[in-house]
Amino acid sequence: MTEPESRIRALEAAIFNAYRARTAASRAWHDRAARSLVGGVSGTVRYFHPYPLYFAEGQGAWASDIDGNRYVDHFLCGACLLPGHRHPAIMSAIAGTHAHGSLVLNDRLSTELAERLQAIAPAAERVRLLNSGTEAVMSALRFARAFTGRAVVVKFHGTYHGQGDDMLVGLDARARSLGAGVTDSAVAGTRLAEFGNFDQLGIILERGDIAAVLVDPSMHHCGLWAGDAETYRRIQKMTREAGALLVFDEVISGFRLAAGGAQTYFGVTPDLAVYAKAFGAGEKIGAVAGRADVMAVADPSRRTQGPFAFQSGTGNDVRNSVAAAIAALELYAAWDADGAYRALAARADRLGQGLQNAFASRGIACHYNALGPMVRLFLTDGPKTLKHCLSIDNRVLSLFHCALLTDGVLTIPGSNDFFLSFAHGDEEIDFVIAAANAALDRFDFASVSAIPERSANAH
Ligand SMILES: Cc1ncc(COP(=O)(O)O)c(C=O)c1O
Repeated sequence: MTEPESRIRALEAAIFNAYRARTAASRAWHDRAARSLVGGVSGTVRYFHPYPLYFAEGQGAWASDIDGNRYVDHFLCGACLLPGHRHPAIMSAIAGTHAHGSLVLNDRLSTELAERLQAIAPAAERVRLLNSGTEAVMSALRFARAFTGRAVVVKFHGTYHGQGDDMLVGLDARARSLGAGVTDSAVAGTRLAEFGNFDQLGIILERGDIAAVLVDPSMHHCGLWAGDAETYRRIQKMTREAGALLVFDEVISGFRLAAGGAQTYFGVTPDLAVYAKAFGAGEKIGAVAGRADVMAVADPSRRTQGPFAFQSGTGNDVRNSVAAAIAALELYAAWDADGAYRALAARADRLGQGLQNAFASRGIACHYNALGPMVRLFLTDGPKTLKHCLSIDNRVLSLFHCALLTDGVLTIPGSNDFFLSFAHGDEEIDFVIAAANAALDRFDFASVSAIPERSANAH
């Protein structure tokens, strides 16, 4: 083992020991869970080394694990809980559905939800409700292919768009697919482009076979490397001129950057937009919304009048999810009107600055990106660019996130996101900055800070 490697291992051992010392019940539960749930969890990112935590409850910005440890929750179940845990309006909306049963045919609540989405999202001329972000992306791309009669979709390097096989490619700077089981043919219709490289995008679009350009306007997965309004206007213009559709994946940006999502934040209305996560504020729901003429391809009453795209789902309009989404959209509209989004973004920026200062005061190079209620750190003294940060090794950063777990801050080591909810106040931000300082005092991050950055990246 090389010298730098052994220093990383020593740091890891110290952090894992502290983690084990306070999470005995989670450890025991993981042993039990792994005998039934594969890996002891219900999804790849829910697992982290040395074993994942198991949670009992949440309230507001806080969550408690089964050992009784309390955490400021910056995971928020993958950015779903934008109002915070157990927001009374969401809880009472769900409780209110019990009297009518959980599923009836063509529940009128779905229309109410679609109308509310229309009211806050300029792209939403028509809406199709469905179950998840993955389904929403899959369906939007199908609609785009049906509408344009073209087969290929542009995806940017470093973005995550759910677990459809065709989207599990180019999650970092490389063109490789993520994990086994994704065939070359599954990703053959996905063309990768470098975000911000307009010459390259122009060349790709010139071929005339592009149905859609898909973008997460927050560029969240690779670290919140969002463009500005001009970037998205330019992508939109190029896309339109090439006869393709612009699809905003608003699974992360939707309702987080503004009530109307990235489309109102940047002032660019895409042809189609997809939603999930904060849309249901913790309940399982997603949506595709977009131009009436494009969405018409999914209109079953017109199936003989032009291209028709099949889209269905048994749980598309489960009542408690729809009710929760209605309540969530009401909250977001009210928060947008009273300036709460700006206050929350300022809080996120203060968190990023505080964390950066904690590293800087110990001579460790760190910078941060903050966008809306989201923060990401980069432990590097290299350039503050997407290109550079896509290529760095985040192992030490992930260890920092694990160290934070031992000081009462919940994020997922490996994903390394700080998501804020509207329940996160200044107190929570102060708590997290203090926790970061405590973690940096207890664990010797300075010993690994000068280790040359290796090129690596994993989802
Ligand atoms: C930008 C983006 N799109 C799509 C998805 C997929 O959403 P889901 O996990 O609901 O399938 C995610 C999930 O993290 C996401 O971040």
